[in-house]
Amino acid sequence: MQKIKKAVIPAAGFGTRFLPATKATPKEMLPIVDKPTIQYIVEEALSSGIEEILIISGHAKRAIEDHFDSAPVLEAMLEEKHKDDLLKMVRETADINIHYIRQKYMRGLGDAILCARSFMGDDPFAVLLGDDVVYNQEKPALKQLIDIHEAYGGSVLGCQLVSDEEVSAYGVVAGEKITGAGLLKVSDMVEKPSVDEAPSNMAVMGRYIISSSIFDILEKTPPGKGDEIQLTDALKVLAKSEPVWAYCFDGKRYDVGDKLGFLKATVEFALRRDDLGQEFRQYLVDLLK
Ligand code: G1P
Repeated sequence: MQKIKKAVIPAAGFGTRFLPATKATPKEMLPIVDKPTIQYIVEEALSSGIEEILIISGHAKRAIEDHFDSAPVLEAMLEEKHKDDLLKMVRETADINIHYIRQKYMRGLGDAILCARSFMGDDPFAVLLGDDVVYNQEKPALKQLIDIHEAYGGSVLGCQLVSDEEVSAYGVVAGEKITGAGLLKVSDMVEKPSVDEAPSNMAVMGRYIISSSIFDILEKTPPGKGDEIQLTDALKVLAKSEPVWAYCFDGKRYDVGDKLGFLKATVEFALRRDDLGQEFRQYLVDLLK
């Protein structure tokens, strides 16, 4: 079994749901408390054993590259002022091995993943979507998927159950239950179905382990929902020739691409912080009295 060592994080989208904040700032750089959302994603990848990360970048996304780079002037100032903790924090983000490629035209998630083809070669790889931040202190969501891949092979889709009202926001899977394993063997997938079209309530939540066979399929995948090349459509084809598992991962997932989801993440991550949590909790209690 090949170890999953490489991950791709698509980050080329415009972030229109967060305008005007995203006019000049990549949405991936919006902070939850004091850390850009993409750093939470990168940290999840690293703590899951990923060694090389490819970020699919695009126009007006240079701030992401600067964030994961050294910052000599800032570092010199922090060193001179003996702000060792801050210096360590700034340097940590520069030590991560990140590669970049640009998606030149916004043709959809499937097209973004296709940009990773030469980087991934023939190895299975991980995908983490930047809008889905998952909190699990014990075992990161991606590590849970990697463990399933190591036990069962094939591709693995990180899923959670959603309500009928929510299915239209996700890729939704259907398949045969594998008893005792908490797994579905995927036989059907629909991108953003209506309640009537949805084959189940099992929704894909921005974490994937995908076999490299996906690239040949993506090359031939026509635009689907929203006139975009959909990863979901390609995965459905992949499931006909290779096992694709849907796995309900454990963890609290926030849709930080949505304003309410972003606020929820901000409040909950702040409450969990040792340096802020107690005071912030008291503030909320007083505010809501
Ligand atoms: C994407 C995928 C969808 C998936 C979702 C998870 O949609 O296309 O299948 O369920 O991410 O967040 P997006 O939300 O980027 O439109």
